[in-house]
Amino acid sequence: MLQAANYSAVELVRNGRPLEIRALRPDDQAEVLAAIGRTSAQSLYRRFLGAKREFTEREMAFFLNVDFVNHVALVAVIDEGGRQVICGGGRYIVVRPGTAELAFAVIDQYQGQGIGAALMRHLAAIARQRGLQELIADVLSDNVAMLKVFEKSGAPLSTKREGAVMHVALALS
Ligand SMILES: CC(C)(COP(=O)(O)OP(=O)(O)OC[C@H]1O[C@@H](n2cnc3c(N)ncnc32)[C@H](O)[C@@H]1OP(=O)(O)O)[C@@H](O)C(=O)NCCC(=O)NCCS
Repeated sequence: MLQAANYSAVELVRNGRPLEIRALRPDDQAEVLAAIGRTSAQSLYRRFLGAKREFTEREMAFFLNVDFVNHVALVAVIDEGGRQVICGGGRYIVVRPGTAELAFAVIDQYQGQGIGAALMRHLAAIARQRGLQELIADVLSDNVAMLKVFEKSGAPLSTKREGAVMHVALALS
């Protein structure tokens, strides 16, 4: 049985630098806020499907206090001059039995290096192991990078476009 709360795995980003994919911890607040501070307005817009930079205490508590059963959150951690910093994160929240909704964000300077795909692989493995059947997401329809990460996951993908938003569903079983 995978222990999602203690989850940790090492990956390599595209230039060969090691990257840790690990469970988000409640004491990651300062690091998460620092990562948000380094993420562009456009990326935050794509993550939250609207303008967002400030978060209330309640929102932060929701993001940080995950139960690793119905709410699983992983972060990607990279070495920056000897300091381990969070450069991205992905989570899923169970929205109905068997189905969870995904969301991701990677700091702009680290995008396009395989970090989103690595987070996706690990989240999908946890979801499968937990017996979930479907992962869903709402993505802006011009969000090529996110759609590519879903396609590359290898899970059968269905999409439904509604205005500017694409409803994506990945079948896990
Ligand atoms: C979407 C996001 C999480 C993807 O993470 P990432 O680390 O950049 O993704 P990866 O590097 O693993 O892979 C992205 C893939 O899309 C491709 N890609 C990236 N930007 C692209 C673009 N503008 N056009 C075409 N392909 C693009 C990459 O080349 C890569 O494909 P490849 O492996 O075949 O080369 C990240 O870009 C991000 O945080 N965006 C802002 C927030 C967001 O959109 N969240 C999604 C809401 S759920």
